[in-house]
Amino acid sequence: MWWRRQLASVKSLGRCFSAAASGEQTRLGIIGVPFAKGQGKQGVELAPDLLRDSNLRQVLQNSDERLLITDYGNLHYAVAETLLQQQRQHYYHIRNYADFMACNLALIEQVQVMLQQNAQFLTIGGDHAIGFGSVAGHLQHTPNLSLVWIDAHADINLHNTSQSGNIHGMPVSFLLRELRNTWQHAALDKVAPNCLSKDQLVYIGLRDIDPYEAFILNKFGIRYYAMDVSRTDGYTRIQSFGPALRGRCKTF
Ligand SMILES: *[C@@H]1O[C@H](CO)[C@@H](O)[C@H](O)[C@H]1NC(C)=O
Ligand SMILES: *[C@@H]1O[C@H](CO)[C@@H](O)[C@H](O)[C@H]1NC(C)=O
Repeated sequence: MWWRRQLASVKSLGRCFSAAASGEQTRLGIIGVPFAKGQGKQGVELAPDLLRDSNLRQVLQNSDERLLITDYGNLHYAVAETLLQQQRQHYYHIRNYADFMACNLALIEQVQVMLQQNAQFLTIGGDHAIGFGSVAGHLQHTPNLSLVWIDAHADINLHNTSQSGNIHGMPVSFLLRELRNTWQHAALDKVAPNCLSKDQLVYIGLRDIDPYEAFILNKFGIRYYAMDVSRTDGYTRIQSFGPALRGRCKTF
């Protein structure tokens, strides 16, 4: 059952990538990011190779035979001493900051290489923390891109608002111009000078957000579609922030 569901989602993924309408071939680059340190569960790092084993490449190719696909394999990174220093001095209260940043810095570089050689790219991982590098790399190449974040969670916590300290709940806060000064020790202007303005972002599917995340969304007027907030079967947190969410949804 799990396999069938996974294949179904791989198939729908295939429809996202297609060659130019003119009939020309379009190059698509793929990078796997076997990262798992943004949260506590082991196993998510296996996702890139499992998706490959589930015929990812063939499914993409079947979606459009004119796609020219290059698989760049899996990303490797090394943790520099400067990042360990930032972690020790400023970000010791969140988990695995140095690994997170090292992985994402490597991904930012890799995405730019792929976009020099391909018209489109696909990052496959299992841990949301890599959303930072994937989008930030794209932003360095295409500053005016639009980001549609499809997720039950907003992933926009700051180092000092996260309750769990898990950095998979923070990648969007590294991308937004409006939140850049909250990561002032991370040298973001150097590693990813192009950032996202809140008008380039929309969320779809929000269902479970933290109180401070709701505050940030409302403060900056970030657009989103939430999931049904009227249900009572366990989604108590979204209930508390339902009115704020509904207000934003109406104005979208
Ligand atoms: C982004 O910029 C490029 C080139 O500068 C332009 O071709 C494209 O239409 C722009 N896209 C949007 C969504 O504004
Ligand atoms: C979090 O830290 C930033 C500075 O890094 C500060 O501007 C912000 O007010 C802090 N937020 C909270 C909720 O403590």
